[in-house]
Amino acid sequence: MKVSPEIKITKDGSNTLFLQDIDEHYHSVHGAIQESLHVFIKNGIQKISPNKCLINILEIGFGTGLNALLTLDYSIKKNLEINYHTIEPYPLEDPKIWSALNYCELINKNLNNQFDLFHRSDWNKEILMTSFFSFLKYKSKVENCILIPNSYDVIYFDAFSPSSQPELWNESVLEKMFLLLKKNGFLVTYCSKGIVKRKLKKIGFVIDSLPGPPGKREMTFAKKS
Ligand SMILES: C[S@@+](CC[C@H](N)C(=O)[O-])C[C@H]1O[C@@H](n2cnc3c(N)ncnc32)[C@H](O)[C@@H]1O
Repeated sequence: MKVSPEIKITKDGSNTLFLQDIDEHYHSVHGAIQESLHVFIKNGIQKISPNKCLINILEIGFGTGLNALLTLDYSIKKNLEINYHTIEPYPLEDPKIWSALNYCELINKNLNNQFDLFHRSDWNKEILMTSFFSFLKYKSKVENCILIPNSYDVIYFDAFSPSSQPELWNESVLEKMFLLLKKNGFLVTYCSKGIVKRKLKKIGFVIDSLPGPPGKREMTFAKKS
């Protein structure tokens, strides 16, 4: 996949990227920040027991770094210790693109340097962004990335849609997600397609269809119980 995205503005005023080759936006056009906050923060990390002192997160599709930035901001505000791992085979290559995104301006102006570091940091090398937040990105396809089973509390499953990248929503990838989660860990995704939910259920996930972000009726919360 060749990555030459265009910057767009979504309905909440935040940017997203659009890839003409596959006709896909990186986020909802109804509001990029609103969507990420709703799916991955409110119904993701915030659903973890408050007694947990260290949270291991895996993100599928680093993209613009918006989910990582919102999670870092959350970790700072809540004094929460997080290990954030993310997978991306097609990173943004031109610093002009991530520098033009208005996320820090809208989320936390103090995180400009960290946002830049998310993009510039070495692959496959863990770094400390704050004393509470470690960050590791893998330059790999999720299908090929070898990770330790039973090690994640939450998976942010943020791949492009099943219609443009069906190979990321097949049983073998979803089963891999199941194996990577700890017991009682869960996967969240903006996708609420029946076929995806049926596959998740068949693998052993317990499915909850939650109200979706603006512009979407539902999203999916899938727990490994
Ligand atoms: C919907 S966008 C992700 C948005 C991202 N989470 C963000 O906050 O900007 C999907 C991402 O998945 C990445 N991707 C494509 N193929 C992939 C694969 N085989 N494995 C993992 N990620 C993939 C794309 O390059 C893109 O960055």
